[in-house]
Amino acid sequence: MKRISLTVRLAAWFALITVLVFSVGGSVLYRALAQQIRSQDDIGLVLTARHLRRLASELETAQAIRLHESRLDSLVLGDQAFFLRMKDAAGNVLLERNPSHFEINDLPVVKPSNRILEHDVQQWHTPSGLTIRGVATDIALGDGSVVSAVVGREMSDREAMLARYRYTVMLTTLAALIAAVALGYLAVRASLRPLRDIAGRAASVTVGKLDTRIPADHVPRELEALVDALNAMLARLELGFERLSQFTADLAHDLRTPLGNMRGASEVALARSRSADEYQALLVSNIEECERLSRMVENVLFLARADNPQYMTTATEFPVQEELERVADYFEGIADDAGIGIAVNADGKLYADVDLFRRAIGNLLANALRYTPRGDTVSISASGGAAGMTVTVANPGMPIPPEHLSRLFDRFYRVDGSRSNPSGSTGLGLAIVRTIMELHGGSASVESDATATRFHLHFPAR
Ligand SMILES: Nc1ncnc2c1ncn2[C@@H]1O[C@H](COP(=O)(O)OP(=O)(O)OP(=O)(O)O)[C@@H](O)[C@H]1O
Ligand SMILES: [Mg+2]
Repeated sequence: MKRISLTVRLAAWFALITVLVFSVGGSVLYRALAQQIRSQDDIGLVLTARHLRRLASELETAQAIRLHESRLDSLVLGDQAFFLRMKDAAGNVLLERNPSHFEINDLPVVKPSNRILEHDVQQWHTPSGLTIRGVATDIALGDGSVVSAVVGREMSDREAMLARYRYTVMLTTLAALIAAVALGYLAVRASLRPLRDIAGRAASVTVGKLDTRIPADHVPRELEALVDALNAMLARLELGFERLSQFTADLAHDLRTPLGNMRGASEVALARSRSADEYQALLVSNIEECERLSRMVENVLFLARADNPQYMTTATEFPVQEELERVADYFEGIADDAGIGIAVNADGKLYADVDLFRRAIGNLLANALRYTPRGDTVSISASGGAAGMTVTVANPGMPIPPEHLSRLFDRFYRVDGSRSNPSGSTGLGLAIVRTIMELHGGSASVESDATATRFHLHFPAR
């Protein structure tokens, strides 16, 4: 199903509101007008009846009414809608002025002693469907006899006027409806223009133009949050993309070194015939480079997998001392060769993924052993409380210059800058440590001074 556009939807709302406002307003005004007209007409009838009563009560007998007919019926003369009828007590008609021959009903009669009021006016319908309003009153004559009189008016001229008014209201409502739809459509279209501009800008963003930003100065206030969010998203994408490009460039650069080493050594070896020992040495060195390459590939793969939001860690609770000793044992051979001691001093249990924990500690320990002077000791300790546990790997040695500390955990970052590190460094060890800590919801930090370089891994409480 085709979705209805916002412009059409809003224009329809405008139309609906206009029709509602106009019909409610029109009908309220209509009722007020009808009420006003009826009240005016009723007052006219009441005044006529009162006037008739005064004129008639000046007469002595019912017969005198016939004589003064022209004076009395002049009250309703000149308008076909009006009528007047007077009867004596026996019901004989004394005077009737009813040019349109309306049917006159028997009405409740106002007593001569009572004042004729607006609410004494009655309404009835003739068999032909006409509406009549009239008032009936008794009149005491000079000789004490009583005659009755009815004064009334037919209302079809008023009804026609109100019908015309209704028609005007409906026409106006229709015109307003059309205007509301058309103007509403134009107004909404114009108001949505900034949104179209934003969409246009967003559509022009390509991988090569991630530095594009959507200008926020002229957008309506309601769209400011959207523009800010889009710009923030673009900034994040740009940064992420930059990092990725940098990572790829560094990776290519780092892969080139071992490949170049292998190729160079092999070419030199092939330049003339060599002894078996020399070939053997070449193969050993090539195998070392291959190991370095596969370690690098394995590290990059691990980082790529860990970056995936679906990466699963399987945390368990284990005694820290035991695990740390196991890692230390693994490095014992290298440490002995380098004449370095490893001291483990930890307590308590830790809730973490054991494999990742070993890997992180292993990376730190490998670094520490590389930078500790012969005869010194690397110490691994762990302390914790309610806020979590911190594992520290500390080694004496040359302090790391402070300007490097903040970038140490970046991928491929090395303090000496030398990428052809003979020990086969990949520059990814600390990046992996940081990633492992992020997977645990924890953090990694480093401090370095003349006494020691200390790496802290903070694991949050379970
Ligand atoms: N304990 C330490 N003392 C002094 N410098 C260190 C220490 N640990 C790390 N560094 C510096 O930090 C850099 C980054 O370390 P990282 O472990 O990430 O890479 P790497 O050790 O060079 O390579 P890899 O760990 O893959 O073999 C190192 O090259 C080194 O310059
Ligand atoms: Mg390392």
